[in-house]
Amino acid sequence: MKRRSLTPTLLPDVVGGEGANRPDVLSRLAAAHAQRALDDLLRQASTVEAVDATCIVVDGKALRNFASNDYLGLAQHAAVCDAARQAIARWGVGATAAHLLGGHREEHAALEEKLARWTGRDRALLFSTGYMANLGALCALLGAGDVCVQDKLNHASLLDGAQLGGAELKRYAHADVAAAERQLQSRPDAAALLASDGVFSMDGDVAPLAELAALCKTQHAALLIDDAHGLGVLGADGAGSVTEASMSQDDVPVLMATLGKALGVAGAFVAGSAALIDGLVQFARSYVYTTAMPPALAAAASAAIDVVRFEPWRREKLQRLIAHFRHGAAERGIALLPSRTPIQPVLIGTSAAALAAAKVVRAAGFFVPAIRPPTVPEGKARLRVTLSAAHEEADVEGLLNALARAIGASRMLADR
Ligand SMILES: Cc1ncc(COP(=O)(O)O)c(C=O)c1O
Repeated sequence: MKRRSLTPTLLPDVVGGEGANRPDVLSRLAAAHAQRALDDLLRQASTVEAVDATCIVVDGKALRNFASNDYLGLAQHAAVCDAARQAIARWGVGATAAHLLGGHREEHAALEEKLARWTGRDRALLFSTGYMANLGALCALLGAGDVCVQDKLNHASLLDGAQLGGAELKRYAHADVAAAERQLQSRPDAAALLASDGVFSMDGDVAPLAELAALCKTQHAALLIDDAHGLGVLGADGAGSVTEASMSQDDVPVLMATLGKALGVAGAFVAGSAALIDGLVQFARSYVYTTAMPPALAAAASAAIDVVRFEPWRREKLQRLIAHFRHGAAERGIALLPSRTPIQPVLIGTSAAALAAAKVVRAAGFFVPAIRPPTVPEGKARLRVTLSAAHEEADVEGLLNALARAIGASRMLADR
């Protein structure tokens, strides 16, 4: 990778005075931004001009969308949209207050009950985003002197939550239960929580859930599973990776998942014992000190759960498309990571090569953005393909052909 370096001008041109040698935070940020651009790591939002379950229009160009987390095609489902409209007709748009101060409506209460029943937990508590759910739960559960053991590939919100909570964060090599055990053993007297993604967001594999639960029991550590990408997709009625693995509330006392991926809406929840939820209501600051999610989103998520549960054909079709994609990739010599979920990353290598591959795929009519460090480890930039039940076999075939061409092009770039 080309690696040039910028020497940032950190000091403002101010003469004398107290604090004159203080670094300027704005110029430091600007220098970090410029460095990212030099390293091919700049992230930019594309403004979407139109979208449906499988097509996205960006920069005036219609592309087949293989970048969405709408794994079941529910974000525009008629029943889900109608539920949101009806709630808006009743309440207007905003919740207008925090849950504890008049923002908690019937739709929130009903959704919490439905989520608890679906996931086999005593209770559930809504948060406005998954990021906030993880921060809230980890900060409520952890404090200074505690240890939080986490998979190296966990989502950023889990890592941030442990640090914000003040615990010592100890990471273990991806899915390596023996390494997790060593980390727990290194602090035998500390209160401990082990946190893992259920389905890893950038790799698509499922965590070794049963082994992690057994380890936590022998080590007297609490286990938190973030099932953002498992909910809706895995398990007989879509209740996620933890239910698929038949793991009870006793096995996984803290279950977190989001409503913005397979459910196609937004928001998140933590589910577990009544004692856990009672404690979060008091001490999860990202629950207490924020406006409740709009009731229309709670109504939409509730309708989406019904579709997930009562239209199993969506999960079945998704599984067929995943099998098709993996088979077609093997036939074309496209190396994939070991994933049985809709997240099917194609490892490329350097950031420059991943950007080049994404460009080739886009020119062929497909939207699959490159994922680069620090979201993924250095040297493991990739195209994160995500499949949806809304895709058809022909979409998958077209993508496979485009990927084969893109990989060829990125190899040529690497050989130069
Ligand atoms: C594993 C995981 N946890 C948490 C989150 C955060 O969820 P949200 O987008 O609702 O903040 C995400 C993705 O965004 C995720 O992939």
